[in-house]
Amino acid sequence: MTPLKKVIFKKDRSTKPIWLMRQAGRYLPEFREIRKKNLNFIELCLNPQKVKNITLQPIRRYNLDAAIIFSDILTVPYALGQTVEFRKNFGPFLGSVSLNDIKNFNKSTFKKKLEPIYKSINNVKKDKSLKNRDLIGFVGGPWTILVYMLNKSSPKKKLKKIFSDKPLIDEMLKYINKYLILHIESQIKSGANIIQIFDSWAGLVAEEDLDNYIYKPTKKLVKITKSFKTPCICFPRNIKSYKEYANIVRPDAINIDYNTNPCDIIKNINIPIQGGMNPKILLSSKKKVKELTNYYLSIFKNHPYIFNLGHGVLPQTNPSMVQYLIKLVRKFNERSS
Ligand code: CP3
Repeated sequence: MTPLKKVIFKKDRSTKPIWLMRQAGRYLPEFREIRKKNLNFIELCLNPQKVKNITLQPIRRYNLDAAIIFSDILTVPYALGQTVEFRKNFGPFLGSVSLNDIKNFNKSTFKKKLEPIYKSINNVKKDKSLKNRDLIGFVGGPWTILVYMLNKSSPKKKLKKIFSDKPLIDEMLKYINKYLILHIESQIKSGANIIQIFDSWAGLVAEEDLDNYIYKPTKKLVKITKSFKTPCICFPRNIKSYKEYANIVRPDAINIDYNTNPCDIIKNINIPIQGGMNPKILLSSKKKVKELTNYYLSIFKNHPYIFNLGHGVLPQTNPSMVQYLIKLVRKFNERSS
């Protein structure tokens, strides 16, 4: 059994596997080298040969337990016909889209557009470096995808007026979910053996809308993933209550953000937990990294736990600090065995 599955399915507490969100990305010079020559980010995500290479970059450098397919959650709006650009120091920039556009879309066009991602997953899966490692596929949470589609860029603290149109949101979520299901199924069939759902903007939803905007649609995605005997890890970043979320949505594991107190979470949640440590710590000293890493590891010593961060690796991170972090986790595992 692969390392993450051991924790998630067998509730193994004896070893803490490690992978990092954004482990392939801008903090790696070898990624920046490729990115420099590939100015269109979506096109890069749809190039199976390059995607395979980028996905495996961190696996070649470090002793990680899982690879995550190099892609983006915004390939879904792209496949639904919305333009998606990434502007330097601004982030994603999306074109306009209407409810009718998505309503009239058809599944085979969507699948065809994302076919290169499925081919990439298949290629990566076959690589011998993935032996006894997990390959994580992913989607954005329905709500987070909706936020990008309507807001057309990363939201600031407050959402635009269009987000008060509840019937529009309900209707759009229904269609978005249909395509997220298709994207999950296709990734699993191509070789992803874990699915992670990134709901990065879950924290923007008011209490009264959680049920319709987050719980109900996400629960469906989790159920579909589970029907393939594939674990589903959910990351509802900054959600009002991880406990309530876990009880209702029923993921196989939950990723916590760095504002969540790990001592509280362990009292409230009995499913496997992933992540939590603030990625900013990797910009400080080895001493501080050691302290905080050992703090998380000791709190989750007797809980099924996958080591990760509370958000993605920051672009300014020195790759040697990531190396050091992995070493610390491995050392802890050796001491506990
Ligand atoms: O290594 C991995 O984790 C796999 C690849 C991955 C990317 N994006 C590559 C990427 C994953 C899992 C994502 C998820 C993603 N994308 C999320 C959810 C997690 C989160 O960060 O909250 C979100 C919200 C997006 C949307 C997105 N894509 C944003 C906001 C940005 C720009 C700012 C940023 O965080 O980099 C992207 C671009 C992006 N996605 C880059 C990478 C490596 C940087 C591209 C570049 O400019 O070189």
